[in-house]
Amino acid sequence: PEAITVGELANRMAERTSDVVKELMKMGMMVTQTETIDADTAELLIEEFGHKVVRVSDSDVEQVIEQAEDKASDLKPRAPIITIMGHVDHGKTSLLDAIRKTRVVAGEAGGITQHIGAYQVTTDNGSVLSFLDTPGHAAFTSMRSRGAHVTDIVVLVVAADDAVMPQTIEAINHAKAAKVPMIVAINKMDKPSANPDKVRTDLLQHEVIVEKMSGDVQDVEVSAATGAGLDKLLEAIALQAEILELKANPDRAAMGAVIEAQLDVGRGPVATVLVQNGTLRQGDIFVVGEQWGKVRALIDDKGDRVKEAGPSVPVEVLGLNGTPEAGDVLNVVDTEAQAREIADYRMKAAKDKRAAIGAATTLEQLMANA
Ligand code: GTP
Ligand code: MG
Repeated sequence: PEAITVGELANRMAERTSDVVKELMKMGMMVTQTETIDADTAELLIEEFGHKVVRVSDSDVEQVIEQAEDKASDLKPRAPIITIMGHVDHGKTSLLDAIRKTRVVAGEAGGITQHIGAYQVTTDNGSVLSFLDTPGHAAFTSMRSRGAHVTDIVVLVVAADDAVMPQTIEAINHAKAAKVPMIVAINKMDKPSANPDKVRTDLLQHEVIVEKMSGDVQDVEVSAATGAGLDKLLEAIALQAEILELKANPDRAAMGAVIEAQLDVGRGPVATVLVQNGTLRQGDIFVVGEQWGKVRALIDDKGDRVKEAGPSVPVEVLGLNGTPEAGDVLNVVDTEAQAREIADYRMKAAKDKRAAIGAATTLEQLMANA
């Protein structure tokens, strides 16, 4: 049963159903939105629309459609995206704050009130790093399950006075599952009870072998409280990023991932979006999950209005017609009609799915009660 409905295929490509039907007609097939086509036809069609096909497995209906592939000559270096993970209270937020404070130019230091969950810092040697602040493990998992691979590097924070704890292990598993390289930040080194070697040996049990134990995972001793070791940590990140040779094409329609979103009383729905490819501009029309919109304003991590945001840049997006969810993918499309149609389709599909789940539960309950 390798098949997909025309409507669903159009949705995944972020194309209009009518355009897909038209294209199928050209291929000699008369089908409607709800009819299914086989995987081979779907593949032809996807390529016809300039998208790339990724078959999860050849017996699987699931076909994840990515953006059309960029020509190597269009790709330019982009900043790495770093997610800080670790056990509760091990100092993730403190570490991020400390990095940010030491890196924000003096004039702005007083004004760091804006907190959009993601921000960029520039290291001494000029490399730019994008940090993700908010993602708790749930958001990270949800993003990964939605195929939004937002993180290039995980910084695993482990408190030197507490060593490896349950959420440390969870974070290790997340990083491994996502195949994202890890850097260990051994934090709270200023504490008298700090025992960094306990952290290192604990990590061994979870197959994380740090450099000091002759492994290849970089480990850096830091203190968010005193700022000690932060430069070394940034260096380690920059080094890891260099190895990854991260690239993107700034000259295309933007796609990105929602880091967080909320309904703001004064401004309406606001989403923090991390641009992953292309450049997002004021006036762009987009779909994001089940919502759509037209970019009314873009606000950077310093709270300033900007006209555009390129790859790896986090921005707040205003101009949404509804509030998307963390992990939703944003795609810029050509027309408002297209955006509206895709969003409507997704909303309806989600509703149908919820109804189906509801029905199943009821049936199960009926059976259980019988
Ligand atoms: P959650 O977001 O709740 O998971 O915690 P977190 O990992 O973000 O930890 P947070 O930064 O909130 O720090 C927890 C506590 O540890 C706070 O009281 C911090 O002041 C303290 N702390 C963080 N880093 C250091 C450090 O390097 N040295 C010392 N002495 N205390 C620290
Ligand atoms: Mg925190």
